[in-house]
Amino acid sequence: MNISEKEKLLNNLYLTTKDCMKCKLGKCRNCFVFGEGNPDAPVMFIGEGPGKQEDLQGRPFVGPAGELLTAIIEKGMKIPRSQVYIGNVVKCRPTVDLKGFRDRPPEKDEVSACSWILLEQINIIHPKIIVTLGNPATKFLLNTEIGITKMRGTLNYYKDIPVIPTYHPSYILRNDYPGSTTKRETWEDIKKVIKYLAEN
Ligand code: URA
Repeated sequence: MNISEKEKLLNNLYLTTKDCMKCKLGKCRNCFVFGEGNPDAPVMFIGEGPGKQEDLQGRPFVGPAGELLTAIIEKGMKIPRSQVYIGNVVKCRPTVDLKGFRDRPPEKDEVSACSWILLEQINIIHPKIIVTLGNPATKFLLNTEIGITKMRGTLNYYKDIPVIPTYHPSYILRNDYPGSTTKRETWEDIKKVIKYLAEN
């Protein structure tokens, strides 16, 4: 499929899903956060769901975790953010309470209602490699119960697409204390992605 066909399909998918009310998250969202990037991206990053800033702006990974993810992509991988594709398992912000004070991972019913959109995005884009960020994205895409500390840096597959899980940028930020190995481990994982892209 060429890039303009991919773009068309993604746009259609966006138009048919943007007003979704299939789960309880639809009721309290400001914005539906579809995902963004190059329809022909070689690499796709997948998080769990929008946070406060993402819900306000309608774009994935634009808050503090997004700044770190952007730095990993642009400074670490030397790829402009616009050339990768960034998406989430759920498209509306999961919060603990309706006032939206605190984020939480998406619940089972929310993932069941929404995740087909992500799978469709993956099928359209068909990247060379996928990076799952943190537990919810990794467990969903790889259909596993194994935690991220064991899964990170390992080579897995979603259909025929290689998947390398790594820590979620929010987790990296929370674990930024002297002696923490989280950053170094994430960089090791990302180096595997860089190597794969250089060789394929
Ligand atoms: N965390 C996520 O998992 N996704 C976003 O888009 C932002 C923060």
